[in-house]
Amino acid sequence: VERLICPWIRYPDDPHDRIWIELPTGYGWAPISTTKKVQNDVNDVFEAPSAVTQTGVTSINSSRPIFFTQDAQPNGNAKDLVPGYVFMMYMAELQLLPSNALRQFYVKLNGKLWNAKTLGLKYLKTTVMYNEKPDYASHQYIFSLEATTNSTLPPIVNALEIFSAVPTAGISTAAQEVSAMTTIRDKYQVKKNWMGDPCAPTNYAWKGLHCSYAVSTPPTITGLNLSSSGLSGNISSSFASLKGLQYLDLSHNNLTGSIPDALSQLSLLTLLDLTGNQLSGSIPSGLLRRTQDESLTLRYGNNTNLCSNGNSCQLAKKKRNSMVAVYVAVLVFLVLMVVLLSVLICMRRRKQGITTNSVRPQNEEINRNGHTSLRLENRRFTYSELEAITNGFQRVIGQGGFGKVYDGFLEDGTQVAVKLLSESSNQGLQEFLAEAQTLAKIHHKNLVSLFGYCKERENMALVYEYMSEGSLDKHLRGRDNNTRTLTWRQRLLIAMESAQGLEYLHKGCNPPLIHRDVKTSNILLNTRLEAKIADFGLLKAFNNDGDTHVSTARLVRTHGYLDPEYHATLQLTNKSDVFSFGVVLLEIVTGQPPILNGPEPTSIIQWTR
Ligand SMILES: *[C@@H]1O[C@H](CO)[C@@H](O)[C@H](O)[C@H]1NC(C)=O
Ligand SMILES: *[C@@H]1O[C@H](CO)[C@@H](O)[C@H](O)[C@H]1NC(C)=O
Ligand SMILES: *[C@@H]1O[C@H](CO)[C@@H](O)[C@H](O)[C@H]1NC(C)=O
Repeated sequence: VERLICPWIRYPDDPHDRIWIELPTGYGWAPISTTKKVQNDVNDVFEAPSAVTQTGVTSINSSRPIFFTQDAQPNGNAKDLVPGYVFMMYMAELQLLPSNALRQFYVKLNGKLWNAKTLGLKYLKTTVMYNEKPDYASHQYIFSLEATTNSTLPPIVNALEIFSAVPTAGISTAAQEVSAMTTIRDKYQVKKNWMGDPCAPTNYAWKGLHCSYAVSTPPTITGLNLSSSGLSGNISSSFASLKGLQYLDLSHNNLTGSIPDALSQLSLLTLLDLTGNQLSGSIPSGLLRRTQDESLTLRYGNNTNLCSNGNSCQLAKKKRNSMVAVYVAVLVFLVLMVVLLSVLICMRRRKQGITTNSVRPQNEEINRNGHTSLRLENRRFTYSELEAITNGFQRVIGQGGFGKVYDGFLEDGTQVAVKLLSESSNQGLQEFLAEAQTLAKIHHKNLVSLFGYCKERENMALVYEYMSEGSLDKHLRGRDNNTRTLTWRQRLLIAMESAQGLEYLHKGCNPPLIHRDVKTSNILLNTRLEAKIADFGLLKAFNNDGDTHVSTARLVRTHGYLDPEYHATLQLTNKSDVFSFGVVLLEIVTGQPPILNGPEPTSIIQWTR
């Protein structure tokens, strides 16, 4: 009676709160039940509740099998993806059988034995049969429970669970959406947790993104909120590639340019918020239509240059005309300034020509070779020139054993780094001159280039190309509040480029050169994150062809990068550089420093091992 009122069984009868529903009898089935409690086996992890296994069906006579079927049904939106199935069959003897009676049967799936042996059941004890791996074999699963010839009683089954298994591991966002999101991230330099797959795994979906997850199709990006995210530049057309987008919030950024009409193609988009930007032009007709048929809410307030209807466009145009007049005036003024400046610079150049004419012929030669005019090989700077270049040695951008490094600008605006030899430096004059002379001769895109040097009485300096992004170690270890994390690809390129710089020193130079201080703080990055090896203060050349190593009594190199052989022999070979470069690679891969701090300082090599 209770069963009729409440035709299912669930918690608290089932500790796992499965919902058990009675199947309608028919098909030659006869219901069977007991009021006694049915036990689960101690090893049974499935724990079908007794309230369920107390009941069951048999067939109406023992010569007739129990049949039931399950059709394999495509799941979700992927029409051709048929899930695998896991079946669990619960059987228990509910009758206390007389000694001359036997209930014995086998279970067949699609005509083949599902279990190897015949089944004899225990009184009031559940037996569970199941396939451990999902079965993908068939589009229809026909089970038949058939009594053996010796059996005097028909088969019995008490409960069934059928699971459809759909692989979800590895389902990632559709490639097109990933590529659009990557473009958006890179264009606006979005500083959020935007790494890996945008939507998956769910717990690590990109912030500001809303994804919908279907059973067997890739996740779709349905919402994107980049409100107040410091975006600048125009609205990327990549937004229009996110076909599942229902809302797009770009409010309160510094977006400029016009609104791309392609956004009107996003058929599911119901909210587009562009409030509080510096967008210009008019609302594209496609978007206007979408707002008129009320399929889209468009917010665009606080965009002073945006014209929303005919009238304000006229106003805006007039305003723009007057703006044009201002621009023209500014331009004329600028042109005048440039002319004046050129005259001044020419006058200065002519004056300079008298004092530094010795470097001129070389420069011109380089120019003929197609190099830029900046490549002033062997250019010799005067100390007062350096003062002018660095604006009186104002901004220190680095410091090494050699001395301080200052920011500076050449006459043509090229930014340079000026390394001034300090008096307390332990680098001697000879070494300094050797470095200057060697560097003047070597050129490689992955070695920091030397623009020139200065040697004027006790003042000595080297003028290098400026590397805006600083040294690699800072990027790897996030000092200076570097919010950017180098991507795997960037790391790979940096490793490859610095290897090429090193290879050039070892193989491309004659005599070969040993850097002697390869480390992440000596690998510098420019604005395009191209890596160049720097700091050749310890650079040594093999003196002649017979030499295979350089011997030095001083331990000059940096702790953590020294090869064990050097410790033993105090002899440096190019293999020492290769060893140090191996440490650099470990740092690039792991982000750890060469010596890990801890109760016991550990070398990264040991740590990695
Ligand atoms: C049926 O009973 C006979 C005689 O007791 C026995 O030899 C045979 O193995 C039994 N068959 C099965 C399938 O148990
Ligand atoms: C986007 O995020 C901002 C700030 O969290 C919130 O105020 C705004 O309502 C969000 N926009 C949408 C469309 O959910
Ligand atoms: C945005 O600017 C870039 C580069 O200036 C340009 O290539 C692109 O076409 C612009 N996109 C739109 C939608 O205006």
